[in-house]
Amino acid sequence: MKTIAVVGTQWGDEGKGKIVDLLAADADIVVRFQGGNNAAHTLVVDGKKFVVRLVPAGALHPGKICVIGPGTVVDPFALVEEIDSLKACANFDDSRIKLSYDAHLVMPYHRAIDRAREASLGKNAIGTTGFGIGPAYEDKAARSGLRFADLLDFRSFRQKLERNLAEKNRYLKAVLKVEPVSSDDLIKAIQRVRRRLLPYLCDTTEYLSKALKEGKRVLFEGAHGTMLDIDYGTYPFVTSSSCIAGAVFAGSGLPPRCLDAVIGITKAYATRVGAGPFPTEIKSKLGERLREEGGEYGSATHRPRRIGWFDAVLTRRAVYLNGASELAVTKLDVLTGIDPLRICVAYELKGQRVEELSLSAARLDKIKPIYEEMPGWHEPLAQARTFSELPLNARRYVERICELSRARLSMIGVGAARDQVIVIRNPFRE
Ligand code: IMP
Ligand code: MG
Repeated sequence: MKTIAVVGTQWGDEGKGKIVDLLAADADIVVRFQGGNNAAHTLVVDGKKFVVRLVPAGALHPGKICVIGPGTVVDPFALVEEIDSLKACANFDDSRIKLSYDAHLVMPYHRAIDRAREASLGKNAIGTTGFGIGPAYEDKAARSGLRFADLLDFRSFRQKLERNLAEKNRYLKAVLKVEPVSSDDLIKAIQRVRRRLLPYLCDTTEYLSKALKEGKRVLFEGAHGTMLDIDYGTYPFVTSSSCIAGAVFAGSGLPPRCLDAVIGITKAYATRVGAGPFPTEIKSKLGERLREEGGEYGSATHRPRRIGWFDAVLTRRAVYLNGASELAVTKLDVLTGIDPLRICVAYELKGQRVEELSLSAARLDKIKPIYEEMPGWHEPLAQARTFSELPLNARRYVERICELSRARLSMIGVGAARDQVIVIRNPFRE
């Protein structure tokens, strides 16, 4: 297989970065196609921790081309900062970054609007990352957004920026009652980062089309997760982009017939950052224990993540929506010592058992999960590298997850380090 997409099946933070990092070893090109620096992948390479937000997680392999595609929204200041921080990794070489002309810029006024709006919503806040992602996608849809191609002609860029800024500053002051963004400071700052970013700009769609003709292997790296998808997630507690496999095509320019496989990533339990429904949330001390053992704090915002049992109803839906043929189950090691384990296999809604759920039709906060219990295991899993090295109950648990989700098992994560993965199938090697 030559083209593979990796997508999250839950609320993000499924450990996609680790699986992308593993698959990237066999890819020539890794592509981000949606979202911005609201995503964050933590990677541990040779004992050193790196956080990638905008640069594809394949960046830490020598020689891979890293594409930031047209469907993304990119904060130019955050990108430069991230590139500088990645230079501490010997494998990283920024000349391999290709940033799409068509990607939209996230500006400081987007961030200011995101934060001020969230503050004004009080207890109804979405719990966004505060990085301006929603307001940047709003401008894109309003057809007033700034794209990286605009940076080529700085005079006209400046005019568009000043027009946008005048409107945003009126909104910031009069409606949101916060400080406006200074035009002079912003223009000077953009001039500085512009020089850094111009060498990365490229027609990434054309580049990918040529690469496919040459038989290159391409990995598409989804950010966030299906339950945060703007159309299929738990709206309005979602992000502002499409996060499902279908977004690969719109967000990178890949023609649909060219995608060979989709791998869904799911954690062995569930987590969510930010507000919104979470049917299987664990509110007892056990949740705290899993949070500590799993290091469940946001990589982008450091917020504590909410913790829950594995929800097969939602994962089944995600597997369907993404056309995922297989699942990589991450962080199985975190469940060691929890006995019994619970899996949500169906919901109770108005006294009825439902196994499939359309999120738009059902009030997720009104349903009750129906659980199946499974015996846990007590052995640490960190050293396991083959399926048969796992304790029987761990094997049964993962197999049950895949059976309920209607996908084949492809990989199992048993720790944070690069090699702590049991690979059952690697589609690039099929
Ligand atoms: P936004 O994407 O910053 O607008 O945030 C909208 C919602 O998506 C909030 O609940 C965020 O916590 C959540 N979110 C956005 N990106 C991620 C991610 O990469 N992992 C987990 N949650 C995310
Ligand atoms: Mg993350």
